[in-house]
Amino acid sequence: MTPYDAPATQATLAPAAGRGPLTDGLGRKVRYLRLSVTDRCDLRCVYCMAEHMRFLPKAEVLTLEELDRVASVFVGLGVRKLRLTGGEPLVRKGVLTLVESLSRHLKSGALDELALTTNGTRLAALAPDLARLGVRRVNVSMDTLRPDLFARLTRGGDLGQVQGGIEAAAAAGLEVKINAVALARDNAVEIPAVIAWAHARGFAITLIETMPMGEIDEDRTDQFLSLAQVRSDLESFWTLRDVAATTGGPARYVEVAETGGRLGFITPLSHNFCESCNRVRLTCTGTLHTCLGQEDATDLRAALRAGASDAELAGLIGEGIGAKPRGHDFRIERGAAPSVSRHMSATGG
Ligand code: 5AD
Ligand code: SF4
Repeated sequence: MTPYDAPATQATLAPAAGRGPLTDGLGRKVRYLRLSVTDRCDLRCVYCMAEHMRFLPKAEVLTLEELDRVASVFVGLGVRKLRLTGGEPLVRKGVLTLVESLSRHLKSGALDELALTTNGTRLAALAPDLARLGVRRVNVSMDTLRPDLFARLTRGGDLGQVQGGIEAAAAAGLEVKINAVALARDNAVEIPAVIAWAHARGFAITLIETMPMGEIDEDRTDQFLSLAQVRSDLESFWTLRDVAATTGGPARYVEVAETGGRLGFITPLSHNFCESCNRVRLTCTGTLHTCLGQEDATDLRAALRAGASDAELAGLIGEGIGAKPRGHDFRIERGAAPSVSRHMSATGG
């Protein structure tokens, strides 16, 4: 137990139809599911993965049909926004089939949004199809404008390929948001240039503090850069105006008067967003995590593969959400083990 644990109370599931808001023990309504469709990735970002990752055996990963089934149960329970993540979602074989199948919930009006978080390497090829299938927004990770640094941070990635993917996404009519992880040694001095690059193209950008998730090959304390520091540096030459938070997510947004663009800050080490958290995550192995920063978990795969009905799956999901923790307890301390042992690539960023 941690001080942030909520008492495990039964989630409210609307009777009969099994529809209605998924409400946790603290009255937070869960409307947003982040669904990891693979733990694999074609990059190896230094803050995300170890160089030699052991990926999951295929049998442990949900099939496309299982992903569709379980996501659809969440939609039936009132989830309005679905984001596919990974690993890298676009390296999953058949991912477009899954997107196409899930897009029926957009057509029926059950789902407001089907979005994607991607590293961008395959966007040049896939953006037109994604747009055609009803995806309207993509978040693309890009931490630097320097090809050499990009290659080093991603252990081999090609910045030109990612920027080409970003252009293709915009050309296909997708709304692009850039994600950049703030790294004290590597991109700190370059952050204003990355922001300006995004804003010049009409993209919002979100800066992310490093999160202690999973063993990697370096010590994260060396790279930790406080976004409070970044923000005050930016304010020495830009005017930042607060924008009311609307996403229920962890980002705090400002508008940069000089660029006219939107800038978000994700500071996971502070607790400023947990009380309004509206999201849960499902790993590619079918484990429901109701908090990114806690080990709490509900295994839906076992039930799926044992032939559970939709109502039984809904019951398990409701129980898991009923026990959603009050908040995380991330810590970044020198030499400490990661607060959460699973990698971001398994949980879904
Ligand atoms: N800390 C912070 N951000 C991370 N990401 C992956 N691992 C970490 C981590 N340990 C980021 C990726 C991507 C987003 C989904 O999560 O760079 O932008
Ligand atoms: Fe792949 Fe994203 Fe992890 Fe980088 S951060 S290795 S792109 S999953």
